[in-house]
Amino acid sequence: MTTMNRREALKLIGLGTTVAAVGCATKGGASAEALDRHLAIKENADFSFVHLTDMHVRRKRKGDEGYRAAIAHVNALRPRPALALMGGDLAFDGNYTPKEEFEDQIGIYKEVTAGLAMPYYHALGNHDALGWSSRRKCDPNDPEIGMKMIMDRLGMERNYYSFDAHGWHFAILDTMFEVKTDNGPTYTGKIGDEQLAWLARDLGRAGTRPKVVVMHIAAFCAIGQINGDPNTKAITPGMVVADNKALRLILERHGVKVVLQGHSHMIEDYTFNGVTYLTSPAVSACWWSGTWMGFPYGYTHLFVKGDQLTWERPTIAWKTHLEPEDSLERERTKERAEFEAEQARLLAEERAG
Ligand SMILES: [Fe+2]
Repeated sequence: MTTMNRREALKLIGLGTTVAAVGCATKGGASAEALDRHLAIKENADFSFVHLTDMHVRRKRKGDEGYRAAIAHVNALRPRPALALMGGDLAFDGNYTPKEEFEDQIGIYKEVTAGLAMPYYHALGNHDALGWSSRRKCDPNDPEIGMKMIMDRLGMERNYYSFDAHGWHFAILDTMFEVKTDNGPTYTGKIGDEQLAWLARDLGRAGTRPKVVVMHIAAFCAIGQINGDPNTKAITPGMVVADNKALRLILERHGVKVVLQGHSHMIEDYTFNGVTYLTSPAVSACWWSGTWMGFPYGYTHLFVKGDQLTWERPTIAWKTHLEPEDSLERERTKERAEFEAEQARLLAEERAG
């Protein structure tokens, strides 16, 4: 391995990203052994692929230009990734946004994504549904309500599907389960029996091929622990799919290598019973208003050698453009800066002895 590659990898760690080899994930600084293993896979990779999620493409805060920068960043990777997995929340929002504006956002997403220099595959996120909320700004009887609109515009034939590439198998799930209410349709985070049955058979047909699963709402998300909030349920309907145990048993049975998750806009890595669950940072960070919980504009880049996998979290260099009315976002940015300064002050004080 070259000094330059070691330096590049260390730079990714230095940015607060995670560099990990399966089974020895480290945060904020990999051990020499973990870094060597990472580079051994990366430098001899058969192919690589990227997971981009939570793009929330919109004109506000120049999110459309930010997304162009993200696509240019992926296209500039060398060697070029073989494919891109788009993890959902593709356009800003269909739940609370007027339909014409959502139409425009989907249009920008479609046009800019077409600039990717590799094949790409869409997964659906909660914000990709039209009007699945009591706060909707469309008619609850709109014939395109739900996922129909974005699927039509993007030419998606199915809301969940699978494909093979470079000897690996990829299954794309839909974690938004429609719920009918007196106020019209909404959703809950769930896969549902029909899709689970499909997944089990689909992974079965894939035999011994190494497998990747993509889902928007997570199977594992430790939001309660992260926030130290004893009132947060382990399976919060909005954050973790309700049927995650049924899913987990299928994933474990079929030896799925990695599950790529989104939705929380935070980096989390978790391995249980041989299956690694990676939550990627959001391409849009805090919906294009700066970092979210300290996580910048970014994505996950995964490298494959045989049936081995390793990954990095590149950061997209994008300058935040707040709108004049973004006072809450300015306040949040200020509070975050104060928090980071206090952490740095404490660290210096504690190291001084
Ligand atoms: Fe999102």
